[in-house]
Order: sequence, then structure tokens, then C-alpha cells
Amino acid sequence: MEQSLLLKDGFIVLPGETVRGSIRIKGEIIEETGKLTPRENEEVLDCRGFYFLPGGIETHTHLQLESMGTVTADDFASGTRAALAGGTTTVIDFATQFHGETMARGLKRWHEKADGKCATDYGFHMALTEWNSQLKGEMESIVAGGVSSFKMYMAYKNNMMVREDEIYDALEETQRLGATIGFHCENGLLIDVLVRRERERGHLTPYFHQISRPAELEEEAIVRLEAVNHLLHANHHIVHLSTSRGLTAINRSRERGIHILVETCPQYLLLEASRYGTPSSEDFEAAKYIMSPPLRERRDQEALWDGLASGEIQFVGTDHCSFNFKGQKEMGRDDFSKIPNGAPGIELRLHLLYAYGVARGRMDINRFSEVTSTNAAKYFGLYPRKGILQAGSDADIVIFDPDPEWTVRGEDLHENCDYTPYENFELKGRVRDVFLRGRHKVASGKIVIEEADGRYLGRLLPDMDIR
Ligand code: URP
Ligand code: ZN
Ligand code: ZN
Repeated sequence: MEQSLLLKDGFIVLPGETVRGSIRIKGEIIEETGKLTPRENEEVLDCRGFYFLPGGIETHTHLQLESMGTVTADDFASGTRAALAGGTTTVIDFATQFHGETMARGLKRWHEKADGKCATDYGFHMALTEWNSQLKGEMESIVAGGVSSFKMYMAYKNNMMVREDEIYDALEETQRLGATIGFHCENGLLIDVLVRRERERGHLTPYFHQISRPAELEEEAIVRLEAVNHLLHANHHIVHLSTSRGLTAINRSRERGIHILVETCPQYLLLEASRYGTPSSEDFEAAKYIMSPPLRERRDQEALWDGLASGEIQFVGTDHCSFNFKGQKEMGRDDFSKIPNGAPGIELRLHLLYAYGVARGRMDINRFSEVTSTNAAKYFGLYPRKGILQAGSDADIVIFDPDPEWTVRGEDLHENCDYTPYENFELKGRVRDVFLRGRHKVASGKIVIEEADGRYLGRLLPDMDIR
């Protein structure tokens, strides 16, 4: 008979409550939870003083993505290994359909990149770089194959940007299928003009990236997107929300009866636009923070934290899109518009959210677990297999010690990137053990099973009923 393992006497974090108790794992599954006593000869792990959390679900990564003439530094091996070390057991990456390609072709390439290489379980969204009737005709088979969420860009003119008529058409189709679309909300037409203006003025340092992507352009794109949704009321969400203005626009649309789900990222909660320096600063270090949308102001961070706690924002992904400073970010040394956009973050998501969210009293541990795992499991069609600690669910479990205080050092991370934007951040609380489908892959903070045993997850349709 298969041996079970008892995780004994921790605090089981559930939606809305935390209960003292134990978790019994049998094979890949949680057999039971509650007040449990060890069976004869059963292996027991003493978890007194620790939280049990459902394995983190990362909603937004770009692993091994070809972008701006280079490829992101983390592939599926290093990216998911870093995720695992940080308490994430499921990664949903953006498989990308490039110009002229079918979605099936894009998806096949992403499987070739990921299959047999992942340390966590994984799934794909499908990112679209264009819109046409052929892609529309393909959506049904893509959704049936387990990819129930898409991404469209309102930014990146002449590259991936789509118009409102195309958004309408795509949303009509996902509505018919019960799937969903995440939108990158920035006004790509105006960004293009502003970038050109800055370059004409000889403003080429990283500082001018944010000047060409002001908060108003996120707000405006959201208003435009929600005008479409006022007509359709289709499932959708907004990815990597960065501004208070954007959140206000979302809440106004909600008052008109539109159901909108929202993702934000640790960088928009914790890093300020002051990282870009000043108009006259020549320091190229600022390139480390070149991402789209760019970093914002303190008031934006406060609004996003409040939104997470109150239920206005439902999940936190990292938009992990890592480029090395040396050789990659440096491609834009003479022109900020050539700096590859994106930054790493996959490993520290839970740690940052716990230390600056829970430990600082901005949200309770139950909300933390909802925004890092449960809500994503529901919305992205993985619940109750993932995202909850209950009998019958996959034994994806994080044992979290709330006490340690430590400092982030990039060199200690598993991400394959030569910097972290969170260098020297002071943290409280640490991921101790991680189980992926019952396998004890991280023990006392160290990865002890290196096998790439992560499985591909075909996903069901979204459950929109989350807060
Ligand atoms: O700068 C970023 N975020 N790069 C990744 C692509 C995207 O828009 O999510
Ligand atoms: Zn985006
Ligand atoms: Zn992204």
C-alpha cells in the first residue's frame, strides 16, 4: 500500500479562515486535512509555527520569449526552478503566436520549449500579435485543447497592437466559447508619437522610457477597452495594472455593470519611478527597470495595495520577462527605445507579497493566499485541482515560516539573470518546504529534487466569480 505523509500541526490557510491542523498527503493528492493523528509507521513532518499555503500560481511569465532582437534570459528550466524555490508550483506562460503564424504553430513551439524541462506544473495562455478571421476560426480548437485564456496588446504599434474593432471581434468569439482575454492596456499610437518626440530631442537615456508612457495612456486604454465591454459584457481581465488612474477607470466601469478582473505585479506595488533617475542622469543602471508599463509613483502603489486588499484587484503575477543587464539591456545603451522591455521577478513573488503585504498589515494571510493562488486557479480553470488545500486536490503545498528576516541578494536566487530589481530588499518570512503533487521538492529552503517532473496542465473555462 502507498505510504502517506503527515504534515503535522501547522496553520492551514483557507479562503476567509485559518485553521490549526494537519495535512495528510497520499501519492500526488491531499488525502485529508484537520485534526489528524499519525498512522502506524507513517512519516511525519513537524510543522508547528508554520503556515500551510496552497502552492503559488504564477499568472504571467515570458520564458524563452523572442523579443526585441533577443531572447529572455530564463527558459522553462531556470524559470520554473526559480518559481519552485519561491513557493510557486504552477506557472502559466504566454505562448505567443507571431506574425503570420497560426496559434497551433505558436503553441507547438511553446510545447517544444517547455515539455520535459519544467520543475513546476505549467500551462499556457495564447498571446496574439495580430487579429484576423483565420485566427478567429482557430480559437475553438485552441480552447478545447486546454488554453482558455488569450492576451491582446493595445500597445506596441506596428508589432502587436490591436484596434477596438479587432478587440470586439475577438471578445465576441471568446464569449461564444466561454474563454477569456487579458489585455495589455496602454495607448500604443500615442506612445509611438511620444517615443519619436523624445528621440528627436536627443533624449535617449532610460529616464525617457517612462516619459513616453504616462499613466494617462494606461487609463485611456482601459476606458476604450471598457467601452467595448459595455457592448459585449464578455469575460476579460486587465494584465499588469500599474496606475491608480487605471484602477479608478476600472471601478467607474464596474459601476456601469461591467465585470472586470485585474492582475497587478510586485514591481508596481514596490518599485517607484524614481529608479529611472532624472532627465539629466546618465546612469544606465536605470535600464534594469525598463518595462511596459513603466514603474509609477508612490500614490499608485498605495492604490494598488488597497485594491488588492479590498477585492478590486484579484491576482498578482510577475510579468517575469528577464533580460541580463550585460549584453541584453545594454543593447539600448544609446537609445532607450532599444532596451529590451521586462524584468525578472518569478522567484520573489510570494516573499515580497508576504513581507510587504501580510507582515506590514496591508492584507491578511487569507487574502494573500487568494491573490497568489486560489483566485488564479479559479479564473484560469484549474480549481479545485490547484489553489486550495482540501481533500482530493493536488498536494501542491508550501510550508511557510513567518519568522525569518533576511535580505535579498541576487546571487542567491535561482533566476538566470545577472540582476534582481529587488536587490537588498528586507524580507520577513520564508518559504521552507514545497511539495509538487506530493513530491517534497524543496526542503528547509533548498531544492532537493532536481527532476523536471512538471506536467502540462490543460485548463478548463474561467470561473468569473472571484473577488
Ligand atoms: O515590459 C514587459 N512587460 N515586457 C513583457 C511584455 C508585456 O507587455 O507583458
Ligand atoms: Zn503586457
Ligand atoms: Zn507580460
